[in-house]
Amino acid sequence: MAEHVRVLKSEEVVDARIQEIGEQINKDYAGKQIHMICVLKGGAFFMCELAKRITVPVSLDFMSVSSYGSDTKSSGVVKIVKDLDESIQGKDVLVVEDIIDSGRTLSYLLEMLRDRKPNSLKLCTLLDKPSRRVVDVDVNYTGFQIPDEFVVGYGLDYDQRYRNLPYIGVISFD
Ligand code: IMP
Ligand code: MG
Repeated sequence: MAEHVRVLKSEEVVDARIQEIGEQINKDYAGKQIHMICVLKGGAFFMCELAKRITVPVSLDFMSVSSYGSDTKSSGVVKIVKDLDESIQGKDVLVVEDIIDSGRTLSYLLEMLRDRKPNSLKLCTLLDKPSRRVVDVDVNYTGFQIPDEFVVGYGLDYDQRYRNLPYIGVISFD
């Protein structure tokens, strides 16, 4: 079975959009320090590119979560594989994700982070598939809304591959 990747958002288009989001974030957080939290592994490429465009002070932390049990898609419970290194209490936290699909992972994660008493908690996602939403999630910054197709690249994987593509593509099989 051959895999094909068709370009959905080129590297130039993604870079330009990240620049725009960075400028908006710089305005919104003027006079503050942003504590960016990357959700591994998919959010890593986006967070690095975004962080380079931020001109207010930034600190970074990483966390890794995985779905609980065999069918977490229905339970919405996620297991923390790697927790944050630092406390987020009193900080202006910006969670950076690759994609929001059903919203289950993020809604669970945001609730857990809110319990840790940050000063503010916002969400930035590179991609959003609104038609797939099952659980409501408040998204503050979105790169692109995309249709319900399986995408790879810019951090997103298919079976752990394609994360390193410098663009966002739709994968198909034949
Ligand atoms: P959900 O929002 O809880 O359903 O799950 C979101 C997670 O599913 C993302 O962080 C990705 O890891 C994965 N995911 C959803 N859609 C895609 C896709 O099109 N390509 C690659 N991973 C995806
Ligand atoms: Mg992810």
